[in-house]
Amino acid sequence: MIEYSDTMIRERYPRDYSAVRKEAESALKTLVARNGTGSDLLGWLDLPDTSPEALNSLLDTAKAIRDSGDLLVCIGIGGSYLGARAFIHALFGDRHRVRFIGHHLSPLAWSALLEELETRDFYLNVISKSGTTTEPGIAFRILREFAEKKYGNTTNERIIATTDAESGALCDLAKKKGYRRFIIPRDVGGRFSVLTPVGLLPIFAAGADPDQLIRGASAGFKASLSLNERNPALNYAAGRTCCYRKGKAIEVLASFEPRMHYFSEWWKQLYGESEGKNGKGIFPASVDFTTDLHSMGQWIQDGVRNLFETFVMIDHYQRDINIPKDQDNLDNLNYLADQPLGYVNRKAFEGTRKAHEDGGVPTSVFHLDYLDEEHLAKLTVIFEIAVALSAYMLGVNPFDQPGVEAYKQNMFALLGKPGK
Ligand code: PA5
Repeated sequence: MIEYSDTMIRERYPRDYSAVRKEAESALKTLVARNGTGSDLLGWLDLPDTSPEALNSLLDTAKAIRDSGDLLVCIGIGGSYLGARAFIHALFGDRHRVRFIGHHLSPLAWSALLEELETRDFYLNVISKSGTTTEPGIAFRILREFAEKKYGNTTNERIIATTDAESGALCDLAKKKGYRRFIIPRDVGGRFSVLTPVGLLPIFAAGADPDQLIRGASAGFKASLSLNERNPALNYAAGRTCCYRKGKAIEVLASFEPRMHYFSEWWKQLYGESEGKNGKGIFPASVDFTTDLHSMGQWIQDGVRNLFETFVMIDHYQRDINIPKDQDNLDNLNYLADQPLGYVNRKAFEGTRKAHEDGGVPTSVFHLDYLDEEHLAKLTVIFEIAVALSAYMLGVNPFDQPGVEAYKQNMFALLGKPGK
């Protein structure tokens, strides 16, 4: 179960909140009617595709990769890697066999990966909707050559391309070479694609439970697409829009679970690329507590009062550790003896929330019963629907990202790309 608690925002801005809540309802009606801005990119509302034709080959490929014991190297950037990384890190921490590359241009990270691949067998999953993005394009060129040297004429069996059905350099290359292909639907934008093969193949190959994940996504849509008081996406969109209109231009997503780190990265991309347009938008930032209480905590508590905070809390842990009692108590920690860490973490959250509220930061909380496939998928869908509603209320198209072209044009010109 996921509960969204926003009482503190409602109490802080009672009159503004109810007006904004009504706007959020009409944004939801627009989304459900599929007639808002960018409505040609609403295919994510029908995900995941659970038809046997779509699911079986995905599950078979993921199982073959998992059973092989080999590494899976995922090449992709932005929406073509963040969702998979978010789920995999949340579920397995560092204990998995998936590597991510093609989302930066760091020679150092590359050397480390190639060194590892010298001694490990691997599959390559190259993921790009457009099939023309520079960073993953370069990455695939390097790894294709590396794989061809290592595997000779069996290389193609180890390469899977996830891309558009018809267009783009990657699609052409995959068809020509005969790679196994998975299709990214035309009507699903990159940052909304985690529930397509973009995210699902790596997530299942890492060992996630497909049934749980599908159940969670479907629960997320059910909870977020209906006009009722408890709709978490509607309430979240209303609350954050209300804060924004009261001058809170920064939203901090705060978790007390380090495994949520990449989920926050995924959220930042989803919200940053969807909302930051036409001189408008909430700046999405994230912190990992309690770690960042000893760094960013100072700013949040006491800096410019232009932010609000959204907590994501894991309420129960499948495993926990009790703090031992110490005879001598030289560290004065016996008042915590026999308490589970999860309990102390919860108290840290309660103390932090109160301190930040007292310091003038409006807060709200998503409570997840557990950290598992079902809750992650449900939260994913809630966040996707909420960003669409928020962007509609802001008056921007949630589904395009014209601003990301500017750096590319400069970079191409500096690198001497023909025609630029
Ligand atoms: O959300 C988006 O559309 C972007 O972040 C893309 O996912 C990112 O730019 C990668 O694009 P592509 O999958 O075409 O390589």
